[in-house]
Amino acid sequence: MSESLDLAAFPADFTWGTATSAYQIEGAVAEDGRAPSIWDTFSHTPGRIDNDDHGDVACDHYHRWPEDIALMKRLGAGAYRLSVAWPRVLPGGDGPVNAAGLDFYDRLVDGLLDAGITPNVTLYHWDLPQALQDRGGWTVRETAEHLADYASVVAGRLGDRVTQWATLNEPLCSGWIGHLEGRMAPGLTDLTAAVRASYHLLLAHGLATRAVRAAVPGAQVGLVTNHSTVEAASTRPEDIAAATRMDGHTNRWWLDPVYGRGFPGDMRELYGVDLPERPGDLDTIAAPLDWHGLNYYFPATVTDDPRGPVPYAREVRLPDAPRTGMDWQIDAGGLEALLLRLTDEYGVRKLYVTENGSAFADTVSPDGAVHDPDRARYLEQHVSACARAVRKGAPLAGYYAWSLLDNFEWAYGYDKRFGLVHVDYATQVRTVKTSGLRYAEIIRAHGESRA
Ligand code: IFM
Repeated sequence: MSESLDLAAFPADFTWGTATSAYQIEGAVAEDGRAPSIWDTFSHTPGRIDNDDHGDVACDHYHRWPEDIALMKRLGAGAYRLSVAWPRVLPGGDGPVNAAGLDFYDRLVDGLLDAGITPNVTLYHWDLPQALQDRGGWTVRETAEHLADYASVVAGRLGDRVTQWATLNEPLCSGWIGHLEGRMAPGLTDLTAAVRASYHLLLAHGLATRAVRAAVPGAQVGLVTNHSTVEAASTRPEDIAAATRMDGHTNRWWLDPVYGRGFPGDMRELYGVDLPERPGDLDTIAAPLDWHGLNYYFPATVTDDPRGPVPYAREVRLPDAPRTGMDWQIDAGGLEALLLRLTDEYGVRKLYVTENGSAFADTVSPDGAVHDPDRARYLEQHVSACARAVRKGAPLAGYYAWSLLDNFEWAYGYDKRFGLVHVDYATQVRTVKTSGLRYAEIIRAHGESRA
């Protein structure tokens, strides 16, 4: 049963796109001069990834990109959010440019533009060159400086055709999940390393913003962050304080410095780790942005957990709440609330939902179709939430569904399928799911409503 959507809420030039990232779809990890990233190392470490999956082949997008562009066209998507693999372009992290690596993105961008699809390029979606990890990775300042140099190289090559740029994808995941929780590359569980990494990631964002603008006059530069709404599990003061800490850890730590408020004092105190600050850094981090990208998947309800890990707040499961195949609670209201928070509290003047989507256990039916009503419903509910936010004043300019294709879902490997298009990994056959067809309908209906 499909929901009737208030598509008239969206402006006529609203962007409808799909998103992916390099390591999750490209494969070809040893081709044309690409060197390993921390995700090659991590995924080839036994026990790190479900089924010991890795991204060696993934969706073979490196070779099948023309077919994937044709799929985007079939959906009617006007934009595509992709990421560039740093270890393809600068295999050593710094130093010589690998021309063949850059050529791949050159062809991809041309292919997209020929198909009438606007590329939105993310420079860093977690695939740090292993060579830089060996020199300290995000715990050292030089990595931030290297990201800016890499940004100059990529923007210098693609900037005559690409105007939409994002510096980082979800620094929270690189910082906290990669360095504190250990569930993502580089797999550390070290609070000091995590806090230092978080600082250098945001510094890298500021330096890369400057580098892209220097290379591409008129570039539209943004940052992509992921957030959850945070509720206390009860009215107990301890739970309310836990919700404030979790909000600081998940939201304020990553937004306050970018919007000129500095790193939140309560969280600095809680972490108790000196930041590697230098004069001028906060201004660099707070460089005004052209847009902000929100990745939203689920809300959080938390209870006090004084003996647990930082931030001493534990998520609780709400009985009967609907969930995706990731076991993530479904709550489209969280997306509306976060769009309005970015608008009202942080003063963001142009927003995109740069990722939103759901994993479910899809299969190809005997009729050859992939029937995924749960994903279609999730999509409709979240598009509705966007419409409500727009009606309330959020300056939302676009929505990118995660993801175009089923792909390598990091520590979960290939079992978790987020695509609007199903991928049979044995044959690389792509099948547009019914949710993909529904997305195409939404895009078409919006166009017609504004024609
Ligand atoms: O697959 C990821 C993506 O790489 C970053 N955002 C969340 C998605 C789903 O987990």
